[in-house]
Amino acid sequence: MIFVTGGAGFIGSNFVLDWLKTSDEPVVNFDKLTYAGNLENLKSVAEDARHLFVRGDIVDRERVHALFLEHKPRAIVHFAAESHVDRSILGPGAFIETNINGTFSLLEAARAYWGTLDAAEREAFRFLHVSTDEVYGSLNPEDPAFTETTPYAPNSPYSASKAASDHLVRSYHHTYGLPTLVTNCSNNYGPYHFPEKLVPLVISNALAGQPLPIYGDGMQVRDWLYVADHCAAIRRVLEAGVPGQEYNVGGRNEKANIEVVKVLCALLDELSPKQDGKYFDQAIFVADRPGHDRRYAINADKIARELGWTPRETFETGMRKTVQWYLENQDWVANVRSGEYRTWIEGNYVGREQLGRGA
Ligand code: NAD
Ligand code: DAU
Repeated sequence: MIFVTGGAGFIGSNFVLDWLKTSDEPVVNFDKLTYAGNLENLKSVAEDARHLFVRGDIVDRERVHALFLEHKPRAIVHFAAESHVDRSILGPGAFIETNINGTFSLLEAARAYWGTLDAAEREAFRFLHVSTDEVYGSLNPEDPAFTETTPYAPNSPYSASKAASDHLVRSYHHTYGLPTLVTNCSNNYGPYHFPEKLVPLVISNALAGQPLPIYGDGMQVRDWLYVADHCAAIRRVLEAGVPGQEYNVGGRNEKANIEVVKVLCALLDELSPKQDGKYFDQAIFVADRPGHDRRYAINADKIARELGWTPRETFETGMRKTVQWYLENQDWVANVRSGEYRTWIEGNYVGREQLGRGA
């Protein structure tokens, strides 16, 4: 079996659902269920005997180690993290605790467990750490895309905590020989994406008749990848990646934020037209994110060349699927947008300086 951390979050739940569709191998899904973890994402596998959900914190090394000894995973796929840059600016402590201390605890538990395996099991074991392109920092418009050898230059507490966790993982391979793999992926979008992030926030605010907040001038560039393509890349790296190696994963879809908002609004205009006006009329420019990285872009040649992975979705097909999913799953959005979510939205947007209107 495999042991997944953070499998109730956005990418983790997509990965678990995908895994159970394409493999008979059971999954232990270990997740703290923070505000970002949602068991509704896993409703379709709640009765599936191959899926065991365990609520817990990766910082709890003894508990994790006991679970390893009990379930004997052949691999750990580590998604659990605090993942939202804006939250890391307002409160970095949780990022240090989960992303750095949590990854350290998990590595220690994995190392102890790995030491109990026989030679063949040790050889076959994998610790796959899911990381981000944000560790490389910000690109200028003419700079080449990030490769696996681009120096780390994280700029936010979130990316700094992910960079630290990547370094710890690397050190466990070099020092102890733990068979680790690291993936550094660009911006994901798709089903079950928590509506604090740009794509689901724009779709859900648009449908709720609320403002669509664009930070600064909206010209920051991200490299967008449909989440199922990221999950396929992780499966492929787990299957054929070389221990100790890093793999960049990206969609070759560089888009300015304002363009993303326009594409989402145009899809909504087509699929769920408003009675009056266009969705982009709701766009507003608001004060920028402090330390906002200007551009990310991934060079994914290594994973294509060595492991044969390339994305299946284009930006157009992936965004269309995503908008359709949100239109068909408005109950999911409504449930998420209650409780703690409201507190966050007030903290991040109410009182933020408005710089102008989109239209
Ligand atoms: P998410 O915030 O949607 O989900 C994180 C999950 O981790 C949640 O289910 C949460 O309950 C769980 N979790 C948090 N702290 C925990 C702890 N201490 N112990 C156990 N579980 C805990 O995040 P996501 O967007 O799905 O990202 C998953 C991983 O992928 C993260 O490591 C993130 O850095 C990385 N990543 C994300 C993106 C992206 O665009 N979302 C891109 C590249 C890499
Ligand atoms: O690059 C990978 C990273 O992508 C992941 O490691 C992170 O976990 C994930 O959250 C994401 O980080 P970003 O900061 O790029 O994603 P977010 O959706 O928060 O923002 C995307 C862009 O949109 C970014 O330039 C900020 C901008 N933005 C975001 C929000 C929430 C806005 O203009 N308005 C908003 O309200």
